[in-house]
Amino acid sequence: MNITRMNEAHVPQVAALEKLCFSDPWSENSVASELNNPLSLWLVAEENGAVCGYVGSQTVMGETDMMNIAVHPDCRRRGIACALLGELVNQLSECGSHILRLEVRESNVPAIALYKSMGFAQLGLRKNYYRNPKENALILGKEWEI
Ligand SMILES: CC(C)(COP(=O)(O)OP(=O)(O)OC[C@H]1O[C@@H](n2cnc3c(N)ncnc32)[C@H](O)[C@@H]1OP(=O)(O)O)[C@@H](O)C(=O)NCCC(=O)NCCS
Repeated sequence: MNITRMNEAHVPQVAALEKLCFSDPWSENSVASELNNPLSLWLVAEENGAVCGYVGSQTVMGETDMMNIAVHPDCRRRGIACALLGELVNQLSECGSHILRLEVRESNVPAIALYKSMGFAQLGLRKNYYRNPKENALILGKEWEI
């Protein structure tokens, strides 16, 4: 497994994974537009030339919000999300960011377990943040020294 920065060739596979993994997915155009956003850093995990996972982020004034993370259902529980998040934190740190924040559905047990295992703490809760279905979001964050 190889982690690299997302490029144009990865976009259709990332958009396909969005559709597979989320009830309210980003469109292919929205994913592609992140390539032209100077605030964005998206990483993909590839295996045998195919994208098996990705993570997307945007940074403003040294503070980063995670847009999304997903791993193909056939590739889960092999440490791919953990590796993507670890590499994201490394690269953000080099760019001067000191915090990574994210929202997660409060019923998303696997994702919450992943974030807790990587040292994220709960910062707050947003009522009815999600649609399809409507659900509260937990706000989690992880800070580091730079
Ligand atoms: C959440 C998700 C990205 C995890 O990807 P993954 O590659 O399977 O995660 P990893 O293998 O790196 O797991 C790392 C740790 O997270 C925890 N974890 C991950 N999936 C878990 C599950 N289904 N149940 C319990 N703990 C889980 C475990 O602590 C795991 O370590 P372990 O396998 O040694 O026990 C994946 O399940 C996914 O794509 N889900 C759908 C999309 C999604 O919900 N994204 C989050 C949006 S906020």
